[in-house]
Amino acid sequence: MSDVTENRAWTLKSRPEGKVSVDDFVLSAASFSRPALASGEILVRNRLFAVAPTIRNGLNTPSRAYRGSIPIGGTIPGMAGAEVLDSRHPGFRRGDRLVALSRWEDFSVLAPDRAPVPVFPIPPSMDFEEALGPLSPNSLTAYFGLTEVGRPLPGETVVVSAAAGSVGSVACQIARILGCRIIAIAGGADKCAWLSKVCRVDATIDYKAEDVATRLTALCPTGVNLYFDNVGGEILQAVVDALAPKACVVLCGQISAYDSGAPASGPRDMMKLVYGRVRMEGFVVGDYVDQLNTARDRLRGWIERGDLVVRTDLRRGFEHLPKAFVDLFAGVNAGTLLVEA
Ligand SMILES: NC(=O)c1ccc[n+]([C@@H]2O[C@H](COP(=O)([O-])OP(=O)(O)OC[C@H]3O[C@@H](n4cnc5c(N)ncnc54)[C@H](OP(=O)(O)O)[C@@H]3O)[C@@H](O)[C@H]2O)c1
Repeated sequence: MSDVTENRAWTLKSRPEGKVSVDDFVLSAASFSRPALASGEILVRNRLFAVAPTIRNGLNTPSRAYRGSIPIGGTIPGMAGAEVLDSRHPGFRRGDRLVALSRWEDFSVLAPDRAPVPVFPIPPSMDFEEALGPLSPNSLTAYFGLTEVGRPLPGETVVVSAAAGSVGSVACQIARILGCRIIAIAGGADKCAWLSKVCRVDATIDYKAEDVATRLTALCPTGVNLYFDNVGGEILQAVVDALAPKACVVLCGQISAYDSGAPASGPRDMMKLVYGRVRMEGFVVGDYVDQLNTARDRLRGWIERGDLVVRTDLRRGFEHLPKAFVDLFAGVNAGTLLVEA
């Protein structure tokens, strides 16, 4: 990097009310000089962006943004694979590569010790695509959500929503590896066919064409033991109505509410959960960073044995970031959505 270069950035132009649109973002390019870093800071070059639904929360007003509201004109935060160009942090050296909560721009100054999401180092044997694809925080989310939060037993019935997506498809397959029976809920015949054929789930429900409650009753006569919830809303309600006694609901995400303009609501009859002795537990993947290497090793082992398939939807070009983001809410992505800078 020469001392002065161009830094492209996507910033927030308007706060979406309801559905997010590409017009809510604006692309700028400004000259960028290598900054003087404060103690504890690093300068990174962002190479590969993981486009995640959770960014939508930061577009809300401060009262509805759980990890901080992005101001109008602010650069969009997002997970990225980045290389360290300069460091005044004892844990990072020039040339290191990492996965971090960065921003939609070419160059970012980060302060790893103050980051709301822990920085995941990338070992030399791993490239950015692997670190943000098969072994990404999304795959780790599925892994920890099942093995640490849900802890299903072999033979139990597990239901996963947004099942053909990045987190969901890995959750389905890990549940299968753990010996469970899997019912996958996804939108569209193609996604359901992929889940049956490639992810080898036991049954699928196309929520856009079928009545979820009716299908769950037919497929789960003794009830659902574990629900891995990525979407919330009506699908959460339908699965809660079908839970077995002592079931568990793993609260991973609520994508159906992100674009709705209203807070995510809970299930209707909470007394059903009381009498059913049901456990509902939320989690965030960053809570388990101390188990990162073990989790990555297990995921890689399953991939190498052919037990786990991770689909990556790789798009090239920094200019495509907002379109890729909007696609997540339309279900247009085919697996983990990555944009190369
Ligand atoms: N807790 C954590 O630490 C953590 C970490 C990462 C992600 N997450 C959460 O995990 C979930 C999945 O994220 P991801 O990155 O893997 O995205 P993804 O599942 O790859 O993509 C989002 C998918 O959600 C589905 N969807 C969109 N709007 C929907 C709606 N209104 N109702 C039902 N389904 C809808 C679409 O699939 P269809 O075509 O099937 O509708 C879309 O493809 C999100 O809720 C996210 O916030 C949580």
